[in-house]
Amino acid sequence: MILKKFQPQDLEEISELEKRAFQVGPYDSAELAEIFMSPGSFNYIAFDENTGRLAGYVVAVGISENMCDIESIAVDPDFRRIGVGSLLLDAIESEMTIRGFTISVLEVREKNEGAIRFYLSRGYRTSETIENYYREHMSGSRNALRMSKRIVRMESR
Ligand SMILES: CC(C)(COP(=O)(O)OP(=O)(O)OC[C@H]1O[C@@H](n2cnc3c(N)ncnc32)[C@H](O)[C@@H]1OP(=O)(O)O)[C@@H](O)C(=O)NCCC(=O)NCCS
Repeated sequence: MILKKFQPQDLEEISELEKRAFQVGPYDSAELAEIFMSPGSFNYIAFDENTGRLAGYVVAVGISENMCDIESIAVDPDFRRIGVGSLLLDAIESEMTIRGFTISVLEVREKNEGAIRFYLSRGYRTSETIENYYREHMSGSRNALRMSKRIVRMESR
């Protein structure tokens, strides 16, 4: 895998991946453009080095002095369970620390068991349930879990 930063010409392929990755509530291309190009947001896009195919993306934005929110992460179904999501998450968390953030947070559908398992395996823990966070239902729920992870240790005194 090769990691690159978002370029406007990637938008169409990201939009296609988005539809393949999210059965419920994918962002449309205007929403994706806004997320990727909003000030303060940063991202990584994974490309398969053999075929040049876009395999996944992650995009994050700072929400306070210490906290950075993973706005979206998705891996194409053809490239799952081979470490692409982990590669993207490691890259974005490392950039968070460089930018001075100490806590990574995210929201995930409470019925999105695969993604929740993925985040647990990457050290995230659930901090709260947010009722009716999403517009569309997934398996009868619109609730989100907020998960978070400390990405740098506190300085010892
Ligand atoms: C969640 C997602 C990004 C994970 O990407 P991935 O590239 O498959 O993840 P990795 O290969 O790095 O997985 C790392 C570990 O996470 C866990 N994991 C990942 N997907 C899992 C799943 N569906 N079920 C259970 N555990 C899972 C496993 O422990 C895995 O290690 P293993 O394969 O050695 O068992 C991907 O499934 C996806 O794009 N899902 C749809 C979009 C989505 O829901 N995004 C999150 C929105 S909040």
